[in-house]
Amino acid sequence: MSKTIIAPSVLSADFSRLGDEVEAIDRAGADWIHLDVMDGHFVPNITFGPPVIKAIRGRTKKPFDAHLMIAPTDAYLAAFADAGCDNITVHAEAGPHLDRSLHAIRELGKTAGVAINPATPESAIEYVLDRLSLILVMTVNPGFGGQSFINAMVDKVRRVKALIGDRPIRIEIDGGVAPDTAPLVVAAGADVLVAGSAIFKGGKEDSYRAQIASIRQAADAARR
Ligand code: DX5
Ligand code: ZN
Repeated sequence: MSKTIIAPSVLSADFSRLGDEVEAIDRAGADWIHLDVMDGHFVPNITFGPPVIKAIRGRTKKPFDAHLMIAPTDAYLAAFADAGCDNITVHAEAGPHLDRSLHAIRELGKTAGVAINPATPESAIEYVLDRLSLILVMTVNPGFGGQSFINAMVDKVRRVKALIGDRPIRIEIDGGVAPDTAPLVVAAGADVLVAGSAIFKGGKEDSYRAQIASIRQAADAARR
């Protein structure tokens, strides 16, 4: 049994067939479905919001992992919870009241995550650790799929792992994850790997299955 959670990002899926794509990555071995929500304000790109998430919710039973790259966040949390997200991750840089946002997510009955941009030190989350289920370490600057993995983030993953101690908090990696970069972050302590372009590049279910398997294999080998 693999200990690595693979969360394909539908950002690189064919949006004209989004529901079918979600079914395809489910059958291809995805553990979670990663949903990149962008507002054209916090990040220089716009994707989709709660209505689209609600529309695809019925296509799989796998957990929906929402990554909110929006500011402000608090006014929209209930809509993402209602749309069927299981985990809701907000950015530490998205507003001045991170502790309040995390409290609101938990009040909605969802697990809460915090994402930190490449330039943000891990100390930004030190005082909210007890409100968290997941820390998302961005290994690219958020906004677009297909960017290069920033190697300096491997050391940050190691520091985040040390900060967590024995708390039940997962470390998720997002950006430039592929079979060559996955072992680096898993060896440093990561347990959830998001991948968009590396998984969806072939455009077919068989290639999604092969890509998920090869990322998983590379990750599990690094864990032993
Ligand atoms: C980037 C998003 C990522 C993105 C990753 O802002 O948060 O989830 O889809 O894409 P790849 O795997 O192509 O780097
Ligand atoms: Zn993401």
